[in-house]
Amino acid sequence: MRKVRYNLLEDGSSVKDAINSVVERGPRDDPVHILDLDDVVAKHRVWREMLPRVETFYAVKCNDHPAVLRTLFALGTGFDCASRREIEKIIDLGADPSRIIFAHTTKSISSITFAKQCGIELLTFDGEIELDKIKQFHPGASLVLRIRYDSDKALISLGKKFGCHPKQEGPQLLEYAKELGLNVIGISFHVGTGSSDHECFYGAIESARELFEFAKTIGFNFSLLDIGGGFPGDHDKPINLYAETINSSLQRFFPVGSNVRIIAEPGRYYVASAVTLIANVHSKRIVRNPQGAVSEMMYYLNDGMYGSFDGWNPRTHPPLVISASRDIARSPERFPTVLWGPTCDSVDLISSGLLMEELQIGDFLVFDDMGAYGMAVATNFNGFAKPRVLVYISRRTWEQLK
Ligand SMILES: Cc1ncc(COP(=O)(O)O)c(C=O)c1O
Repeated sequence: MRKVRYNLLEDGSSVKDAINSVVERGPRDDPVHILDLDDVVAKHRVWREMLPRVETFYAVKCNDHPAVLRTLFALGTGFDCASRREIEKIIDLGADPSRIIFAHTTKSISSITFAKQCGIELLTFDGEIELDKIKQFHPGASLVLRIRYDSDKALISLGKKFGCHPKQEGPQLLEYAKELGLNVIGISFHVGTGSSDHECFYGAIESARELFEFAKTIGFNFSLLDIGGGFPGDHDKPINLYAETINSSLQRFFPVGSNVRIIAEPGRYYVASAVTLIANVHSKRIVRNPQGAVSEMMYYLNDGMYGSFDGWNPRTHPPLVISASRDIARSPERFPTVLWGPTCDSVDLISSGLLMEELQIGDFLVFDDMGAYGMAVATNFNGFAKPRVLVYISRRTWEQLK
């Protein structure tokens, strides 16, 4: 795993100081991510307080920066891996294979074989053919059946692609696994990512319980419930209501003492608010109506949809503006504003319809809650740089995690 330079924040200094020090060095070509590891640690603490029965297996896909993975490793979380490469990253940390769930329902044969070689036991599935593959290449695995349960308020629904119908397909799949002599140990679901719906966890947990009951009738003794991801992670979106719904649903369908291990695969929750992006305006066009009045301001930034913005995180509120030049007086006037990414593609549109003050070339735009998925899916399309990640951690947290 690549080397990371950790910037230590002494008592009394904060991530704001880190942002200021980037700004003070002046406009730059490559965007910057400020990664605040204390935020990741704080999230873990909140989860443990609010959802004490639910162990976390962090979804590596969401942000696989080595500093994030090492921090979560030190905190003792498990990991949800979806590919050979992700498994390698976690094994390289020194993690015991029992801390990994291979939570992709459609796995290549080579990745199943690799998981077996690494000693990974927990695998998910949602179809017969996957069971045939597992029977052949990892017959001793502990399997988790993924059911479909979609929140209708999710940004991205995963149910179109993954998860069997709990009533129409679930029982037959369990019977088929029994026939093959495979060991199914529980149920998982994912309500969809970027969901603003805490209530759907009740129905999903209830559906899982029904399959636990069916499984008993055919001789399985389930011991694991995996409630997936789908938790918010932005700084202003707490998980209190999620915790209330999940805790009460668990108490109803999987009461303490029922000997069922409860796990979750949060991605966004852990990392969204840990990253702040500092981008620059590098070009500008003023669009005027036929009468000559300004109808729209268009700005071209050094980061965009092929960089660390992506469809998983629509930007609906304006970023913080830090002026590059203290000489230009800032006017209170607001204009309809379009923020474009740097590439030649017109789908590289970060946001339109914002009302913002007039910006100048070189101005800094600071976007919060940029830690989930953006960097993981960023490309170098058109030759533009991906953001440079600067890692910050307070000395106190550093000493604790060491
Ligand atoms: C199987 C699985 N688990 C967990 C996650 C993480 O979801 P979230 O970031 O919404 O917590 C995903 C996201 O795609 C996923 O596919």
